[in-house]
Amino acid sequence: MPAIAAENEITVQNLLSAFEGESNAHAKYTAFAAKADEDGLHGAASLFRAAARAEQIHAGNHARVIKQLGGEAKCEIHEVEVKATLENLKAALGGEQYEIDTMYPGFIEEATQRNNTLAIRTFHGAIEAEKTHARLYGEAVALLQGGKLDSWIGAAREFYVCPVCGYTSETEEEHERCPVCNCPWERFEIIR
Ligand SMILES: [Fe+2]
Ligand SMILES: [Fe+2]
Repeated sequence: MPAIAAENEITVQNLLSAFEGESNAHAKYTAFAAKADEDGLHGAASLFRAAARAEQIHAGNHARVIKQLGGEAKCEIHEVEVKATLENLKAALGGEQYEIDTMYPGFIEEATQRNNTLAIRTFHGAIEAEKTHARLYGEAVALLQGGKLDSWIGAAREFYVCPVCGYTSETEEEHERCPVCNCPWERFEIIR
C-alpha cells in the first residue's frame, strides 16, 4: 500500500472523520428505522432506511478515496442511543445540519486548497445528498409534531436513492439523471 503523501495528510484525516460519521449515521438510522416501525411510523422508517443506504454509499465513496490516497478506512461504530421517533428524527436532522453547515464545507475548502479532485468529488456528493435528507427529516418532524399521522410518515413508502452519490428523493423519476452526479435515473435504488 502506498504511504500517504505529506500534502494529503490533512485531507486523509478529514476523509477518515467523514467515513466515521457516515458509517455511524448508517448504524444510527438503521436502529431508528426499527424503532419507527415499532412506533407505527412506517413512512418515517422508510425514510430512515433510505437515508441509511445513502450514508452507506457515502462511506464507501470516502473509503475508496482514502485507499487511493494510501490510507486505510477504519473506524469505530458507537452504540446507538435510540429514543422515541420524534427525538430520533430531530437527532438525525441535527446531524445532517452539522454536516451541511460545518463539517463538509470545511473539508471541501481544505481539499480545494490542495486541489484534491478525488476528495472534492466525494465530499461534494455527500453534502448535496445530506441536503435532501435534512429537507425530508425536517418535513417528517413537522408532520409528527403536528400530529399528522395520516400523512406519508404513517405508511411505508418508497424513496429513490442514487447508487453513486446517495441523493435521496421521494418522487419517482424526478429527473432523467441524478441532479448531483448525473447517474441515470433507472439505476436509482428503490428503498421502502
Ligand atoms: Fe444524510
Ligand atoms: Fe447521484
